[in-house]
Amino acid sequence: MSQNIESLLIETRLFEPAPAFSAAAHIKSRAEYDRVRSQALADPEGFWAEAARELEWSRPWDAVLEWNPPFAKWFVGATTNLSANCLDRHLGGPRATKPAIIWEGEPGETRTLTYEDLHREVCRFAGALRGLGVGLGDRVALYMPMVPELPIAMLACARIGATHSVVFGGFSAEALRERCNDAGAKVVVTADGGYRRGSVLALKEIVDEAVVHCPSVERVVVLRRAGNQVEWNSPRDVWWHEAVDASQPVTEAVAVDSEHPLFILYTSGTTGKPKGVVHTTGGYMVHAYLTSKWVFDLKDDDVYWCTADCGWVTGHSYLVYGPLANGATSVMYEGVPNHPAPDRLWSIIAKYAVTILYTAPTAIRSFMRWGDEHPRRHDLTSLRLLGTVGEPINPEAWMWYRDVIGAGRCPIVDTWWQTETGGIMITPLPGAVATKPGSCTLPFPGMDIDVVDAEGRSCAADQGGFLVIRKPWPGMLRTIYGDPARYADTYWGRYGDMYFAGDGARRDADGYFWVMGRIDDVMNVSGHRIGTMEVESALVSHPAVTEAAVVGRPDSLKGEAIAAFVTLGPGHSPTKELEAELRNHVAKEIGAFAKPDDIRFTQSLPKTRSGKIMRRLLRDVAAGRESAGDTTTLEDVSVLARLRDGEE
Ligand code: WTA
Repeated sequence: MSQNIESLLIETRLFEPAPAFSAAAHIKSRAEYDRVRSQALADPEGFWAEAARELEWSRPWDAVLEWNPPFAKWFVGATTNLSANCLDRHLGGPRATKPAIIWEGEPGETRTLTYEDLHREVCRFAGALRGLGVGLGDRVALYMPMVPELPIAMLACARIGATHSVVFGGFSAEALRERCNDAGAKVVVTADGGYRRGSVLALKEIVDEAVVHCPSVERVVVLRRAGNQVEWNSPRDVWWHEAVDASQPVTEAVAVDSEHPLFILYTSGTTGKPKGVVHTTGGYMVHAYLTSKWVFDLKDDDVYWCTADCGWVTGHSYLVYGPLANGATSVMYEGVPNHPAPDRLWSIIAKYAVTILYTAPTAIRSFMRWGDEHPRRHDLTSLRLLGTVGEPINPEAWMWYRDVIGAGRCPIVDTWWQTETGGIMITPLPGAVATKPGSCTLPFPGMDIDVVDAEGRSCAADQGGFLVIRKPWPGMLRTIYGDPARYADTYWGRYGDMYFAGDGARRDADGYFWVMGRIDDVMNVSGHRIGTMEVESALVSHPAVTEAAVVGRPDSLKGEAIAAFVTLGPGHSPTKELEAELRNHVAKEIGAFAKPDDIRFTQSLPKTRSGKIMRRLLRDVAAGRESAGDTTTLEDVSVLARLRDGEE
């Protein structure tokens, strides 16, 4: 059994949805959820076809699914256009003049685009792209700040059947170059600059540096955003506004095949080279649409805010495509959450009367650390639903989110999914499923998810194992761009006919899923495999600790020893006594064998720009090795140097 992951965190609190919330929700009770889920399990194709019929298709499908493991096709033979489903579909009724995007720049300016406005801008930019020679299947890289022109460019690509590859605006020139070359991008769309933490990030300059070594890139479109000086390379470069003025709008969206590639999004793998995850049109659209509707319980009067950057999959599915396909109002913010002050998010919620907030556990832990006074200063009573995504949320952060941000009124949807899954897979439906802090609860209807052991057998309740998906689902990745063998190997090599998510998990006696994190974040200590997250969660539950990262380091006696990196809250100082106290605290929370061997106090942890702790680097520090790997995505490279120098 040492192959299996031991799961040690026991959480017994249970929060039922409020009756008034349930009564108004799309899915109104646990009984309704159970019925829908079992019907969908018995007939997944019928279930997804019913959802698909709520959307518009130019040609109907001949078959819902064609499954030649590991390659799936959904809505085979159908044609559609995602930009038409997000825009044109809403223009005939009252949604035409409803805000589609409410945007706030970091310096404080705001813009509201109604569905009519957004449609017009997308048609115009689609025309501009066409004028630059972009056609069906061409790849367009988008390297932009969080301004409305980023979703406009995404939707414009979709409108003409070009495949977009959004590269997060915080990546280096080297990373951008690698992505442009891997995808063979024909055009790069960027801006002069964008605002981040009070200063201008000169994006065009980075593009200039990147594309000199990108032979496929013919043109660079530049949006004037920050007004900073840019170098001009004629005839390669063209201003966004000039390209738009010089072309005819694309009023007629191109009907593309359901399996036409909509986007490529790069994600890090266990090896160095990023993987270009490919998503196609029809199935992805249906998955993003239905999950947005049911998980966020979207209604026409909601003001929905997903704080993710469009550079990550969450921004694709739950800032742009899912909410817009539902005709929702989506808030978009350009900058960082603590500029000019730590209450920026709460001021935005109060200003636009946001009803649904979707953010990440790492952000929630920062908010906790910054202090309750910041949210308390603002009127957050418009909120009715809270969501999280991206990593396991420790119960303490979950409770803080519920009590301080949601005032105990708002259900929390902890949503498990991945870049590869395209959309949400495990989540509570907020009017139907009682929640437990730290659990993403139950599968979304239509998703056949299991926890299995090394041999692929279903695990018993509370036995840790590997998270797998037993059947294809509409939003699943179709391949790794240019590397179908890597696709087959990474996700299907282990079990053959089951998708291997790479996460450790357990299911409790109630069938609730508890995701413990990546398999490579799992330690093996004296034959016990322990999720780093569970030790972290225990540490963070100590009042002195605000954040903790735990990694394994080689140990000749135990196989692996546990090393913890800990940041302390105000008023606490790193002492030997506290170190001992924390060890005992973990022993108390989990068991003596899970006591960290090393505790290092630090002022901050090395994170990627999306906020994920870079465990690979911490493992090197813990083991006393120099880090050889790529650090271009580090938010603050100096953190690493300070940790290595043994500061604090
Ligand atoms: C982790 C983000 C626990 C998990 C949408 C997954 C989570 C990886 C959760 C994917 C959650 C995401 N609970 N863990 N609710 N959501 N993860 O590709 O390890 O950036 O495999 O997609 O994040 O990260 P990605």
